[in-house]
Amino acid sequence: MEEYPVPEEWMQDISRVLFTSEQIQERVAALGQQIARDYAGKSPLLVGVLKGIIFFMADLLRAINIPVEVDFMSVSNYSPEARQQGVVRLVKDLETPIAGRHLIFVEDIIDTGLTLHYLLRSLQARQPASLEVCVLFNKDKRRLIDLPLRYKGFDIPDYYVVGYGLDYREKYRNLPFVGLLKAEALHRGG
Ligand code: IMP
Repeated sequence: MEEYPVPEEWMQDISRVLFTSEQIQERVAALGQQIARDYAGKSPLLVGVLKGIIFFMADLLRAINIPVEVDFMSVSNYSPEARQQGVVRLVKDLETPIAGRHLIFVEDIIDTGLTLHYLLRSLQARQPASLEVCVLFNKDKRRLIDLPLRYKGFDIPDYYVVGYGLDYREKYRNLPFVGLLKAEALHRGG
């Protein structure tokens, strides 16, 4: 049984639940413990990109039992062409200076890897003491750039998934599980 209420009208658009809320929580707890062990005494800064990251970041933070800090950035794509080159526009930058800090870049889902590659390059230029990636869902079928993923939740097939913060045209974020969207819902659009 799900512990959170589910918007019924969105359930009709889901063809299959890939991970239940419980399965996600269990995996996130394990990632949090691993991070706490690796960063003991280092007070890392967790960085996330809004908005898809909200659930994962909130749960991951609470699963880490050492002092950590958090900050967010927000990006938007210039155009489909720019997106294909992995160029994104920074809409909101971090508020925390990161030089000399231990950074953990927390990402909800990685597909081609272009967005992450671009963001990591720009963060690296600010000279953090270290920079590692923690991703919840890894789709590597369409990966164009090899990225070092220190912490990984789940490997998933090349499907479009929604829920637990992930959207399709801003919908479905508040589904407590992660599921596959029916083709008809994808084609219906926003
Ligand atoms: P990439 O640059 O191709 O790796 O795309 C990563 C970004 O695309 C993620 O941060 C998400 O915003 C979005 N994305 C990719 N796949 C999915 C998905 O299956 N569901 C929801 N968003 C996705």
